[in-house]
Amino acid sequence: MEKTLFFIKPDAVKRNLVGKIITRVEDSGFRLGNLTLVKLKKEGAEEFYQIHKGKEFFDKLIESVSSGPVVAMVLEKDNAVKDLRELVGATDPQKAKKGSIRSDFGLDVTRNSCHASDSPKNAPDEILFFFPEKD
Ligand code: RTP
Ligand code: MG
Repeated sequence: MEKTLFFIKPDAVKRNLVGKIITRVEDSGFRLGNLTLVKLKKEGAEEFYQIHKGKEFFDKLIESVSSGPVVAMVLEKDNAVKDLRELVGATDPQKAKKGSIRSDFGLDVTRNSCHASDSPKNAPDEILFFFPEKD
C-alpha cells in the first residue's frame, strides 16, 4: 500500500469544501492514514514549497497557502501518488480534466483547492513535514 500527502488549501477550507473534497477522495478508494488541521506560518509554507523558491509565482503561492488553515492528510492506496494526481487534476483549474477536484473546486492557478505529492520519492518527506512522528 503506497502513501501520499494531500492537503486541502486555505481557499477551499474557507469555502467549506473540506467534507466534499474528502468524500471525493474516499469514494475513489483512498483510505485516511492521518489527518490534521493546521495553519502554516509563512516560513513553514516556504519550507514546504522550497523547490519553487525564486519562481515568479512563489510569493503569491506562499501568501495564499499561509492565509488560513489547511487540512492535511496521509492517503493510502495502491499507486496512491499517481492516482491522487489524476483525481486532483492539472495545476490550472481551467485546464484540469472535467470531474477532477481542481476543475470542480479550484478558483484559479493559485487558489486551486488542494495539493498532492508529485512523486513516490517526495511523498515520504512531505508526510514527515506534517506528521513528523506518526508516519
Ligand atoms: P501542488 O504542488 O500544490 O500539488 O501543485 P502542482 O504540483 O500541480 O503544481 P506545482 O508546479 O508544484 O506548483 C505548486 C503550486 O504553485 C502554484 N502555482 N502558481 N503560474 C502560476 O501562477 C503558478 N504555477 C504554480 C499553484 O498553486 C500550484 O499548486
Ligand atoms: Mg507540486
